[in-house]
This record gives sequence, C-alpha cells and structure tokens, in this order.
Amino acid sequence: MSKIVVVTGAAGFIGRWVVRELLERGYTVRGLDDLSNSSHRNIAEFEDSERFDLVEGDVCNPKTVTSRFDDDVDACIHLAAEIDVQESLEDPQSHFESNVVGTQNILEACRQAEARLGLVGTCMVYDMVDSDAGIDEEHPVKPASPYAGSKLAAEDLAEGYYHGYDLPVTILRPFNTYGPYQKTSMAGGVVSIFTNRDLQGKPLKIFGDGTQTRDLLYATDCARFIVDGTFSDDAIGEVLNAGTGTDISINELAEVIATEDTEITHVEHHHPQSEVQKLLCDPSKAEEMLGWEPQVSLEEGIDQLRDWLREQNES
Ligand SMILES: NC(=O)c1ccc[n+]([C@@H]2O[C@H](COP(=O)([O-])OP(=O)(O)OC[C@H]3O[C@@H](n4cnc5c(N)ncnc54)[C@H](O)[C@@H]3O)[C@@H](O)[C@H]2O)c1
Repeated sequence: MSKIVVVTGAAGFIGRWVVRELLERGYTVRGLDDLSNSSHRNIAEFEDSERFDLVEGDVCNPKTVTSRFDDDVDACIHLAAEIDVQESLEDPQSHFESNVVGTQNILEACRQAEARLGLVGTCMVYDMVDSDAGIDEEHPVKPASPYAGSKLAAEDLAEGYYHGYDLPVTILRPFNTYGPYQKTSMAGGVVSIFTNRDLQGKPLKIFGDGTQTRDLLYATDCARFIVDGTFSDDAIGEVLNAGTGTDISINELAEVIATEDTEITHVEHHHPQSEVQKLLCDPSKAEEMLGWEPQVSLEEGIDQLRDWLREQNES
C-alpha cells in the first residue's frame, strides 16, 4: 500500500511542488490548505489523481487538522504558514495564530497518529552573515520580524515534542525559494516579482540600496530537499539548511533579469529593520546527511520561470 503523507499548505507555492514530488515518488497525499494565499489552480494538475485530495481548512482548528490524520498516516510535511514579513509587522497576531497555534495542532495530531514530521522553517530566522563562509545550522538566530519569530517559535515547539515525546521531527530551513506558481505580487518573492515586471515592461523596483543578498533555491530543488529531509532517519531531531551556497545581491539579480529596455529603480525600503542584509547558505550538512544537492542553476531557473510566466500572461 502506498504510504500516506499529510501536507499542510499543499496548494501554496512550495506546497504544490512538494505534492508533485511525493506523487511522483508513489506516496498518497492528503492536503490541507485554507487557500488564504493560494488557489485550486496551483494543484489542478493533481486533482484527478486518486492519490491526492485536498481539504479546505484552517490549521488553527484542531478538529480540521485531526480530520486529516489517522493511524494510516506515515508522515506530515507542515508548510502552512502566513509568510509575508510586511503583513506580519502590521498584523502579528494573525501570524502567531497560523504559524504557532497551527503548528501546535499539527504536532499534537502527529503525536496521536505516531506520524513523523517534516517541519518547514525558514532561513529568515538567521542573523546575517558577514563573511563568505555561509550560514550553517549552528549560526546564531535573530528573528527580525513577527514572521521570523513565529517560525522560530514553531521550531521550538517541535523540538519540545522531539525531546518530550520522541516524536520523529526534522526541521528543514530552505533559503529563499523561487519558481513557477510563486505569486508575483508583494506576497511573492523577488525573482518572481522582477521577472513578471520585466515581461510586462515595468521598472524593477529595488527596496533600499540593493546590496542585500539572497541565496536563491529553485522550487524543485527545494521540494526534493523537503521530501528527502522528512523521510531520512539520520535527520530525525536535526535542523537542516538548503540553499545553493552562492548568494547574489538584489542589484545584481535585477541586472540578470532585466532585458534591454527595462528600467531599474531604487525605492525606500518598507521595513529596513526586518531586512536580513546577507543570506548565504552553507548546505553541506544536507548534502552529507541526505545526499541532496541543488540541480537547477539561477540562469536555468529564471528561464523556466520566465517561460511559465509568459504562458500565464498569455492565457
Ligand atoms: N518561499 C520561500 O522563499 C520560503 C523559504 C523558506 C521557507 N518557506 C516556508 O515554506 C512554507 C511555504 O511557503 P510558500 O512560499 O509556499 O508560501 P505560500 O503562501 O504559497 O504557501 C503557504 C500556504 O499555506 C496556506 N495557509 C496559510 N495560513 C494557513 C492556515 N492558517 N491554515 C491552512 N493553510 C494556511 C496558504 O493558503 C498557502 O497555500 C512556509 O512555511 C514558509 O515559511 C518559504
């Protein structure tokens, strides 16, 4: 019988790639998503599959969460979260509910069902790095926004269940991820926003001076990391980073994406206090423990994203 995995945030950007990866590997997927930042369009590709279904519901509701779990569930991959740094500064309570209370409900459901958990954290919990050595899992944390704080609190809760109940938990911290299906509005990511604006002939607006850097991970590489990390026995109780090991400044990224006539401008940063100036991943622990490594270069990834966005804009 096919193994069963509950995926929260299954209709979201990374969630839909994780669902795709799981279905390709033969798993059965029970999705849960309240569609607050996504839509059925993201998962239309899987909706005919007998091994996939989605319940529309909130992870803050314990009954909704437990309705997805029973003794047949082998694992849960928890991605559901509110992810917008600016919104978290404006409405921290909502981020707390979804990201902290929601995670508590997932932990309890995993404990009852004896299911292992891949908890998807984020690189945004780290303090900036000031050298080219890269951020490893021992690097100091410094949550600089309610979003980052709520994600770190969720990790702490999970660690409590790992030590307190022996719940098999792996904490997975991908660096900034981009690719098809990511939103091109402010709730999306910089690569998707810039690529879409370039296609539409609009100026690329850089927040602040553009010297801040990101280590950009392509969606399929991120999804492989999350699935590999969730099912690795060696990784239980561990924190794992995933990134490419190379960072790029937002100024350089704009140059890579902008085609001939596209203007690049600088605008005032909405939340400079919550910006992480340099985010460069040291992915060696995941490489050694999981045998995982990124396969898609930034240039290939941007090409694939551009093709996909072009199709979306035409349809
Ligand atoms: N995008 C990135 O660069 C990145 C990097 C590192 C980690 N992450 C983490 O990966 C996860 C997915 O992020 P994403 O970029 O795909 O964002 P996303 O917004 O596309 O996905 C999150 C999904 O969760 C759903 N959701 C939100 N609150 C919910 C709730 N209370 N109940 C049920 N569903 C809810 C949303 O509708 C959405 O479909 C998040 O946990 C995020 O912190 C993202």
